[in-house]
Amino acid sequence: MDKIRIMGGNPLVGDIRVSGAKNAALPLMAASLLTDQPLHLTSVPDLSDILSMIELLTHMGAEITFDRRIDSSSMTLCVKNLSDTTAPYDVVRKMRASVLVLGPLVARAGEAHVSLPGGCAIGTRPIDLHLKGLEALGAEITLEGGYIHAKAPNGLQGGTFTFPIVSVTGTENLMMAATLAKGTTRLINVAREPEIADLAACLTGMGAKISGIGTDTLIIEGVESLQGTTHRVISDRIEAGTYAMAAAITKGNLRLKGACLDLIPTVASLLQQAGVELEEEGEDLIVRSPSAPLQGVDMMTEPFPGFATDLQAQWMALMTLSEGASMITETIWENRFMHVPELCRMGANITIHGSSALVRGVKALKGAPVMATDLRASVSLVMAGLVAEGETVIHRVYHLDRGYEHLEEKLRNCGAEIERIQ
Ligand code: EPZ
Repeated sequence: MDKIRIMGGNPLVGDIRVSGAKNAALPLMAASLLTDQPLHLTSVPDLSDILSMIELLTHMGAEITFDRRIDSSSMTLCVKNLSDTTAPYDVVRKMRASVLVLGPLVARAGEAHVSLPGGCAIGTRPIDLHLKGLEALGAEITLEGGYIHAKAPNGLQGGTFTFPIVSVTGTENLMMAATLAKGTTRLINVAREPEIADLAACLTGMGAKISGIGTDTLIIEGVESLQGTTHRVISDRIEAGTYAMAAAITKGNLRLKGACLDLIPTVASLLQQAGVELEEEGEDLIVRSPSAPLQGVDMMTEPFPGFATDLQAQWMALMTLSEGASMITETIWENRFMHVPELCRMGANITIHGSSALVRGVKALKGAPVMATDLRASVSLVMAGLVAEGETVIHRVYHLDRGYEHLEEKLRNCGAEIERIQ
């Protein structure tokens, strides 16, 4: 199994192009199930999760061409014949976002059979709200043999559903389902993540009628059918935030091409409070590190526009070397501190109290062999390795390949000593 070896100590200096967002591209790909015409996506990141979604959609009858190029991959998906409405366990257990096919399948075919995903490293991750929402649109749901069977033989009907908890993929699934339902659907207390606005923009391009985009209530007028369109995937705010923090932890200076402050409002504000300088220049974000030590700043994860849980581990890595202390509270996932013992093995001073972690800044981290547990935990260990004294070897790097396009090349081009080894 591949590992990543890093010799720490070099500041990151240079340019990094931010890729298209994985968490936008996955629902956009699932949206191709809603029409028999081609959907053309540009700025698609070349990641293993994208390949898993290709595998799943191909199994359902999609014809997909993926033109893989550094920084500008594009994809055409066409589901002329929807030949299979099952999302098998083997694909779903590898990638939970597979559940995003549920809404589009019921909407187009009147049925779907999707394996229940099961828990994962960061939490139990139920999908009860996706199912309750589909029931509000008239679907009949049964569970058998570990599979969700959803049926709406006469098509979905518009309805009202209020999310008791904000759910990103739950909102996306129901928004897609409602585009082809008969009548009007009101989705209340929806997630407001930029990836949702991106999906809504693409669906609108396909002929869907959606209003309230960017607010907590979406109103969707169902239409008879949707058509193909061309859509550019929004830039990855989590990747941008990760590299901004990587610049800060190594005391470097980066130009993040295609990064946008509006996509990371709270992250930007906390970075500035810690002492990092951020400046937008055209379509780029310039990140400059101060010569003085960074200051510890408390942080709590929240749905957008709050601080993204997908940047919590990276913020924690940054805070390990700050002056003072930082209280980090995770409110989205119940088990997202798996990186803490690994960071402590590198010399960090972190104690966990329930859903909060108290990080007391230390003078330096020391390289060590460490184990990656999930995508964002893995990249926090890469960040720690970039600044640690000596060598860090990160095991189980397949997690990184799910969400960071050309990570080693991007970091190496900015001066990092990082390589993949067997
Ligand atoms: C999305 O997951 C992202 N994945 C996650 O990114 C991200 O961490 C998460 O949103 C939160 O921002 C994709 O977009 C593909 P949720 P999702 O439904 O949609 C509870 C990464 O690293 N909940 O918004 O699965 C749930 O347990 C990944 O790229 C229910 O109780 O997350 C959690 O506490 C990891 N019932 C909260 O809601 C439900 O039916 C938010 O989860 C659904 C969710």
